Parts: sequence; structure tokens; C-alpha cells
Amino acid sequence: MSDSVSRSKTQLRSRAWFDNPDNADMTALYLERYMNFGLSLEDLQSDKPIIGIAQTGSDLSPCNRHHIELAKHIRDGIISSGGIPLEFPVHPIQETGKRPTAGLDRNLAYLGLVEIIYGYPLDGVVLTIGCDKTTPACLMAAATVNIPSIALSVGPMLNGWYKGERTGSGTIVWKARELLAAGEIDYQGFIKLVASSAPSTGYCNTMGTATTMNSLAEALGMQLPYSAAIPAPHRDRQECANRTGKRIVEMVHEDLKPSDILTKEAFINAIRVNSAIGGSTNAPIHLNALARHIGVDLKVEEWQQYGEEVPLIVNLMPAGEYLGEDYHHAGGVPAVVGQLIKHGLIHEDAMTVNGKTIGDNCRDAIIEDENVIRPFEKPLKENAGFRVLSGNLFTSAIMKVSVISEEFRERYLNNPADLNAFEGRAIVFDGPEDYHHRIDDPAMGIDEHCILFMRGAGPIGYPGAAEVVNMRCPDYLLKRGIKSLACIGDGRQSGTSGSPSILNASPEAAAGGNLAILKTDDRVRVDLNTNTVNVLISDAEIAERRAALDAAGGFKYPEHQTPWQEMQRAVVGQMDTGAALENAVAYQRIAQTKGLP
Ligand code: FES
Ligand code: MG
Repeated sequence: MSDSVSRSKTQLRSRAWFDNPDNADMTALYLERYMNFGLSLEDLQSDKPIIGIAQTGSDLSPCNRHHIELAKHIRDGIISSGGIPLEFPVHPIQETGKRPTAGLDRNLAYLGLVEIIYGYPLDGVVLTIGCDKTTPACLMAAATVNIPSIALSVGPMLNGWYKGERTGSGTIVWKARELLAAGEIDYQGFIKLVASSAPSTGYCNTMGTATTMNSLAEALGMQLPYSAAIPAPHRDRQECANRTGKRIVEMVHEDLKPSDILTKEAFINAIRVNSAIGGSTNAPIHLNALARHIGVDLKVEEWQQYGEEVPLIVNLMPAGEYLGEDYHHAGGVPAVVGQLIKHGLIHEDAMTVNGKTIGDNCRDAIIEDENVIRPFEKPLKENAGFRVLSGNLFTSAIMKVSVISEEFRERYLNNPADLNAFEGRAIVFDGPEDYHHRIDDPAMGIDEHCILFMRGAGPIGYPGAAEVVNMRCPDYLLKRGIKSLACIGDGRQSGTSGSPSILNASPEAAAGGNLAILKTDDRVRVDLNTNTVNVLISDAEIAERRAALDAAGGFKYPEHQTPWQEMQRAVVGQMDTGAALENAVAYQRIAQTKGLP
């Protein structure tokens, strides 16, 4: 137990369920059910904190499935520190398995977890995080309820290998598609090549959204130092689970809550770490939602303000060469934060779950392998953060300018008078099905200077927002060696893709955004001098097209397939503000503001 003052048993919220003489009927009813599987009356009425283990692993969530094993170690840690563990399931979210998109379920898992943490006798909670959306869903719920909470990553998979080369989750798909399109591998070869990237339990081993969000959970202070990067099968991962269990009991005694940790400074730290690690373009969506649920004012423009000039120092795919195991052996998140601290880019006073500041945790962290985590002075790329673009098609969209390739630059940004702007002919697709149907049709006349647009793929249009903006070129261009076209859209992009798309456009076409009035063959200008994207038509023409669209009943998108799709569409916000459930945002810190249920 820590040195800090222990909470007396009357201060534990679980006592309202288990030891409440003023409500003897209900107390007895609560107790008899929690005693019927082995807990004792003595323990349930003691000063032992009751700790929830929010279990995100299941057969439907293979990325997080190893948490079923890790929970045993979390329990051991909780018990050895004098707590009582109660494990319960969280709505599964499997990034690769959930249709139409896992994005639909982040807010659903969030809602369910809020009800559990708030409505059951829990004094603290361990959040078992991992696969892309499980991390934000868990953190958002902990923020909303605001009882002591600690996250535990499941850890990345071991490195994938194929013919002596590393193969990384997701990233290999883009490469395999090119090989398939070029006829270098067949269908079975394609599957074998992709499967080689997933050799063990754990989440994606690339710097996709999972590694990003787990790293940021640590950078925010919500996980123990070094917790994010340990591969799932390693014994250190089990030991980390045990320490996490021990620590949450202490946190209850210290009353260390998410609101003490998730401050504005913590979010600024996370934005900078995201640039340094080459983090996913999904990070702004999830962190902006988390900030709203804890009551921190964070604008999408602040990702550029704080993050753009930070260099990329982590050499992981898709931006670099290495994978999760290498990241761990090179020093993980503390080594990255340590480099940023040396250059004054971290608010060192930000508190973390171990009761120390991030400065104290990471100041002396060293890089163990400079091939994988580069010293700040020798980065892979300068200015690796996001740009936030706007114009007459949307009010904000995100772009990772640093991943623009030389080939891409020469093809699009080829005007010697202005090497930061280009114009192209728009090719507009209405959702991923339309794109798949038409992309290879030669009648589309797509050439290497076109700009592909994806609309109807935002939080409302494709409920939850689909990861479809980075569109593959037509086969006939791939065969000519053209690997990518400029892509813009109101959907998301997989964190495992290194494409310089302009994405997360808000408002989306389905929410009144002007992507809805764009037409194939329009000229569009992208100007990185001014961070603008504009369709080159007059305001009058825009108004005319808008009136015509409204007269025709507005922008069309597919019907709801499930009750949740309909409910979420009615209340979800746009991606610039985190695609949060708008009426959930008002419920902040409810363990304090709403009292007991
Ligand atoms: Fe689950 Fe990548 S699909 S972590
Ligand atoms: Mg994804």
C-alpha cells in the first residue's frame, strides 16, 4: 500500500451496496448474490476496495483475447494489494471483424461501460485496452464516470516474417494488393502473405491505430510506464498486469482519478508524442472525444499547433521499417517521451497513474536501439505532425504532409512556380461500394493526375465512419507503376496505411458538408501554402447545386440496418469534435456530480 492516507471503508462507494444499514433490504440482496461464488461477507464489508476488470477480450475480439489470460495476473495483483477483483465483459469491438465498421461500436461500448462502472459496486477499474477502438471506448467511459482507473495494454503481436523480411499488420495488405494486381502472387499467396503478419496473440504490430492509441494512453498518463509496448506473449506483459492490479488498489486509497490525469497538458503531451511515433490519423478523433468527456477544451486545430513541428523518431511501419517487438526493445514510450523532454516539448508536471509525473517517469529513459527509436536530432522526418486543412468543401480535414513521397511530389506538385499546390480533376465516389464497383472501369478515365474523392463515409453516412479514404489506384495505373493517387474524403483511413490522404473531412456530406455537391470532372485545388482545399467553382454555383440537392431530398446514404445505427446517427457529432455522442458529453465526472446511482 502507498504512503498516502488510506480511505476509510465509509469512503468506498462500494459500501453503499454492501454495508448500508439504512437500506438493509437492498444490502442483503446485493450481498447474497456476490457471496454466492466465493466472496465472504467479511471481505465485502471490509475496507477492501472492489476493483472492476473491464474485460475486452473474447473469441470475437482476437486482438484483445490474451486479456483473458492477463486478467488472472491482474486479479493476483489486486488481491495481493488488499483489493477484491470483479471481472466483467465489455461489448466486443474487433477492428477487422465488425461490419459495417468497428467505428460504429466505439460509442456503443463506451455507453455500456459507463453504465457498468457507474451502476455497480466498483471503487476502481482496470481497463483492458488493445485493438483500435477498445482503447478510446474504455478511456472515454472512465473519464465520464471518473472513478480511479488504470489501463493495461494487451500488447502488440510478435513481429511477422515472410521470406526473411518483417511483415506488419495491415501495412502488408497494401503491398500484397499491389503484388496481386501486378500478377506476382495469386489469391492463396495473397492470403498467406497477409497472414504472416499475425504470428501471435496481441494487437497490430505496426504503428497503426492500436499501437498509436496504446502509446497515447501511456503518454496521457493512464498506463504504467513501459506498459504500452511490451508484446502480448512476453512474460513482462504478465508481470505488468500484476503490477497494474496492485497499483489500482493504491489509486483507490489515494483517490487518484482520471480528472487528475487527463488535463490539457496531458493532451498536449499526447499530441506531441503522436507526431514523434508517427501515430494514426484516427488519434485526433479519439483524443478529441476523450477530451470532451473529461471536460478539456481541445480543438482539432491544436493538433497542428502543437504537433506539426515535432519530428518523427520512431522507425515503425508504415512510415518506417520496424515492428512492435523492436519498439519495445528500443525503450517504448518512455524513450520517446524522454527525447521530447530534452527539447522542452513535454509538460513534465502532468500526473500519471503511478502517482508520479510524466517527467519523473521518463526524464532519464534511454534509447536502447537507435535504429528503431532515433535520437531527436536524427529524426526520420522533420515536421511529422498533421496539417489541418479547410476550404469550400469542408471546414476541417487532416493530412499527414510528411508522408508525401518524392514520386507523388513530382507527379502532383510539379509546378516550379509553386511547389506546394496542385490542381486535379475530381473523381467522386459515393461510399466504398461505389468505389469498388467503378475504380477499375476504364470508362472512368482516371489518370495519374486525378484526385479521388470518397464521400458518404463519415459518422452518419457510413454509420461510425469507414476507413476507406485511402483508395487504391485503378489496376491499369498500378501496372504502369503509379502506386497512389491523391485521395480526399469524409471517412477515415487505417492507421496502418502511410498514404498522404486528406481525411476526416468535417462536416461530412451526410451532415450538410459541400462534398455532397462536388461532381466528377470538377477541378479541385489543394494548396499546402495556405492549408486549403477548394473546388474551383463560384459561390453562386455552389449555392445553385446545394438548392438542387435539397430539392431532390438531400444527400442520400444507405438505410439503417440495426437499431443502434439509427440511434447513433441521430446524436453523433462530426469527426473534428471526436464523433462523440453529443448528448453524452454533458455527463462529465458523474461519480462526483451525480452522486450514487
Ligand atoms: Fe485489432 Fe489491429 S485489428 S489491433
Ligand atoms: Mg483501423
